[in-house]
Amino acid sequence: MTLIKKTYCWLCLLVTRPFISDKEYNLIRDDFNAVCRLRDVEPSLSQFVNEFVKFKEFRSVVYYRLRNRFRLLPSLFFKGQTALFIFSEQIEGGMIIEHGFSTVINAKSIGRNLTIYQQVTIGCSKGATPVIGDDCTICCGAKVIGGIRIGNNVVVGAGAVVVRDVPDNVTVVGNPARIIKRRETQ
Ligand SMILES: CC(C)(COP(=O)(O)OP(=O)(O)OC[C@H]1O[C@@H](n2cnc3c(N)ncnc32)[C@H](O)[C@@H]1OP(=O)(O)O)[C@@H](O)C(=O)NCCC(=O)NCCS
Repeated sequence: MTLIKKTYCWLCLLVTRPFISDKEYNLIRDDFNAVCRLRDVEPSLSQFVNEFVKFKEFRSVVYYRLRNRFRLLPSLFFKGQTALFIFSEQIEGGMIIEHGFSTVINAKSIGRNLTIYQQVTIGCSKGATPVIGDDCTICCGAKVIGGIRIGNNVVVGAGAVVVRDVPDNVTVVGNPARIIKRRETQ
């Protein structure tokens, strides 16, 4: 069955590639490279196929990058992650979603190299959504809400509720979130 899935995936890649813009391609490449760094594997086309066949959340990221175009083509075998909703207009490359179920990503903008776990809500309060910097990690179950600004190189701990601005290079935890650590500048 895996062989059939992989063959079908290769076929989908061949059919869709000419219709993917350079911008979309580069974003998907950056996301994929970030996943490879996490898994400590070399990026390659066959590794891409492995990742796509194996991980729903990776498929969801690819579909998001393609603005859900071509979704019907691979959806015979390859549905995305259930209850993962990505509404943000602007998310830079290098996004990793781990598990990603029951997760809503509705930020005004998100920088490079976001890592996000399951059951996270990044969303609207009083009509405004967060701006999130580069190199941030949002751990499982965290909520980041309202028109706040999260700096660069920030870790939001599991279960944290963030309702105020967070500066660069810190770890925050708790409800309401507070700084527990300064992080090394990247
Ligand atoms: C936020 C986090 C990254 C911090 O890790 P760390 O820098 O190693 O922090 P420490 O474990 O040294 O904890 C420092 C202090 O913060 C507290 N703390 C750590 N994480 C916390 C959290 N999520 N909520 C509340 N308090 C927390 C610790 O109890 C400790 O308190 P103390 O100083 O009073 O003893 C980590 O605790 C976390 O939340 N990881 C979640 C990872 C995840 O989502 N995994 C899912 C995999 S599927």
